[in-house]
Amino acid sequence: MPPGVKSKDFLRITDFSSEEIRATLVWAGRWKAGETVPRPLEDQAVGLIFHKPSLRTRQSFEAAVVRLGGHPMFITDAEIQLGVRESIHDVAHVMSRYLALIVIRTFKQSDVEELARHAAVPVINALTDVDHPCQVMGDILTAQEHLGRIDDLAVAFLGDGNNVFHAWANLAARIPMDLRLATSPQTLPDMAIVENARRTGLSKITISHDPTQAVRGADIVYTDVWASMGQKDLAAERTRLLKPFQVNADLLKGAKPGAIVMHCLPAERGREITDGVIDGPQSVVFDEAENRLWVQGAIIAQLLARRVRT
Ligand code: CP
Ligand code: NVA
Repeated sequence: MPPGVKSKDFLRITDFSSEEIRATLVWAGRWKAGETVPRPLEDQAVGLIFHKPSLRTRQSFEAAVVRLGGHPMFITDAEIQLGVRESIHDVAHVMSRYLALIVIRTFKQSDVEELARHAAVPVINALTDVDHPCQVMGDILTAQEHLGRIDDLAVAFLGDGNNVFHAWANLAARIPMDLRLATSPQTLPDMAIVENARRTGLSKITISHDPTQAVRGADIVYTDVWASMGQKDLAAERTRLLKPFQVNADLLKGAKPGAIVMHCLPAERGREITDGVIDGPQSVVFDEAENRLWVQGAIIAQLLARRVRT
């Protein structure tokens, strides 16, 4: 894409400028506080294609679309068989004739990119093996609420260098932070994403195998499942590799007093996080879940406003 030309889509957090991220959070915060939500989707339908299980993402997107005046239409891969029954190209063209917007959760990031390339309407990434941008937008809104700011936070991410960590790295390319991943040598993130974020020079991104060091003085202690959807056969091996990175009461003592604990959910309690921590006073996991609703509404509104402007 030529410089300065905005993507019509939200496939990764870097599709938004820093100003758009901040504006999205402002809208989400106001709507959550009770300000009237606009209805830019009045009488329009939004397609939700899901190829992986979901509780939060599906329900929060459906609820957000309803609040914006639209009607969500959910479809799974059992029906579409993307790229098998027909090409992604043809699916994109057909869906664009019915819908104002497409939300997709699938395995390959490249499938989402291809769908977006051929769709005439905005496409939102609702999780791939590589990224989970809507999650981390909800998380940073949660940080704003609990810590009073989003800039210059120390964020310790413990465990798998996965899609959620990649979304944090992409956020670090837009919002300054001290992002520290502590993981095993076998579960490192995609270094191209990390290097891309580092090149912006905005944030410090450190990758280590030392959980205590990563958590020291952190404002946010974050974790996610050790084996993501589509990798559950790796669960036993991941448990062995990532056990030292469990978020528990002992580890949390090293964080800042007043640090918040985040988990995108679903959690495997007793593995990556203990019951005591996830149910404890520093945990904000259900606020994160709620904020998906508000932030995704605001992401949709941003994309629709962008279409009017361009
Ligand atoms: N956090 C999250 O995306 O949850 P679901 O997989 O339930 O949608
Ligand atoms: N990393 C997890 C996130 C779930 C919301 C997964 O992809 O399964």
